[in-house]
Amino acid sequence: MSFLVRKITEKDFDNGFFETLSNLTVVGDIYSNDELKRDVIGKVLGDQNYIIIVAEDLESKKIIGTATLLIEQKFIHNGGKVGHIEDVATRKGFEGRGVGRKIINELIKLAREQGCYKIILDCDAKVAKFYEKLGFAKKGIMMRMDLNAKFGAIYL
Ligand SMILES: CC(C)(COP(=O)(O)OP(=O)(O)OC[C@H]1O[C@@H](n2cnc3c(N)ncnc32)[C@H](O)[C@@H]1OP(=O)(O)O)[C@@H](O)C(=O)NCCC(=O)NCCS
Repeated sequence: MSFLVRKITEKDFDNGFFETLSNLTVVGDIYSNDELKRDVIGKVLGDQNYIIIVAEDLESKKIIGTATLLIEQKFIHNGGKVGHIEDVATRKGFEGRGVGRKIINELIKLAREQGCYKIILDCDAKVAKFYEKLGFAKKGIMMRMDLNAKFGAIYL
C-alpha cells in the first residue's frame, strides 16, 4: 500500500476524512447538515495555529489517516510555543501499516519548524506504546472535567 502524507485540503472533508476519524470516536451527525459542516470546516481551516495532516491512499484516493497539531503561544519560557497533538486516527482496516507513524513524524517536523519547545498529547493507556515507539515519554497525568451533559455519554 502506498500513501501520501500532506496538509488537509477542503475536498478531503468529503473524501473519507470523517470515516477515518470515526475510528477514534463518535464524529457526530452534524456533518449531514451541509451548512453546519461548512461552518466547522471554515473555523478550522481559517486558523493558522490549527494544522491538520492527512494520509491519502494513492490507489483509492481516499483519506486513511489524520492527526492535528495545535500551536499554543505561551507567555512563559520566553514566549515559547507548545505543540498539542489531537485527533489521531488511522482508518479502520488500515492500521499497522505505518500510516500513524508517518503522520506523527510529519507533525513533529512541523512543530520543530514552528519553533515549539515541546509536544504534548493525551492518550488512552492502550495506545501509549504507539507513541513511545515514536519517541514520546509518559509524564504527569491527564485531568478532565466533563461539562456538557448532552455529549458526556458519547465522549466517555
Ligand atoms: C493508534 C493508531 C493511530 C496507530 O496508527 P497505525 O497506523 O496503526 O500505526 P503504525 O502502523 O504507524 O504503527 C507504528 C508502530 O506502532 C505500533 N503500534 C500501533 N498501534 C499500537 C498499539 N495500539 N499498541 C502498541 N503498539 C502499537 C505498531 O506495531 C508499529 O510498531 P513497529 O514499527 O515496531 O512495527 C491507530 O491504531 C488508530 O487509529 N487507533 C484508533 C484511534 C486511536 O486510538 N487513536 C489514538 C488517539 S490518542
